[in-house]
Amino acid sequence: MGEGHMRIRRGTREDLRYLPKILMEAYQGMEEYGEKDIESARKYIEELYEEDPECFFVAENDGEIVGFIFCNRFWYSKFEHGKVGAIHEIVVVPAHRHEGIGKMLIEKAMEELNSSKIELWVGEKNESAIKFYEKLGFKRKEKAGRWIRMLKVVR
Ligand SMILES: CC(C)(COP(=O)(O)OP(=O)(O)OC[C@H]1O[C@@H](n2cnc3c(N)ncnc32)[C@H](O)[C@@H]1OP(=O)(O)O)[C@@H](O)C(=O)NCCC(=O)NCCS
Repeated sequence: MGEGHMRIRRGTREDLRYLPKILMEAYQGMEEYGEKDIESARKYIEELYEEDPECFFVAENDGEIVGFIFCNRFWYSKFEHGKVGAIHEIVVVPAHRHEGIGKMLIEKAMEELNSSKIELWVGEKNESAIKFYEKLGFKRKEKAGRWIRMLKVVR
């Protein structure tokens, strides 16, 4: 679990200002799935937060944000013909990947979503994220443009 003290906690509006930079760095090398600049990243993050402020968590290492997740408890899926829980964004900073932080963030989000179906969309070339989601029980579903829908059914 790395060096310092790691914890997952609920995110607050004050945390949002740290996220655009983390997001931009996380999508380096995968620009087609990221935001075009820091200002659009700021707007995107603000929108994610507003969708469901209660469904935002951060991973903190010695007081520094090293990952975050945004989800939505009220998402309508046209593929499932009904309401599902959605995960809209998850990022762990490169220096702290493969420490289990992403898994903890997903588990926290799933607890909050409390839904029998969890949906997300991932870039088709984002193989590492696809493998990550598959490991956590998500299955590949439809492709739409450059994106693949993934679904986890919680029995
Ligand atoms: C996807 C992401 C959040 C994963 O975070 P992470 O903290 O590194 O993931 P974890 O350490 O919790 O990994 C959990 C499991 O996923 C799998 N996994 C994670 N990264 C993987 C990779 N690059 N390749 C293959 N499997 C991977 C592993 O099986 C791992 O389990 P293990 O440690 O028992 O082997 C992180 O890589 C990231 O921020 N990527 C950039 C942003 C992004 O693509 N987000 C998704 C947008 S839809």
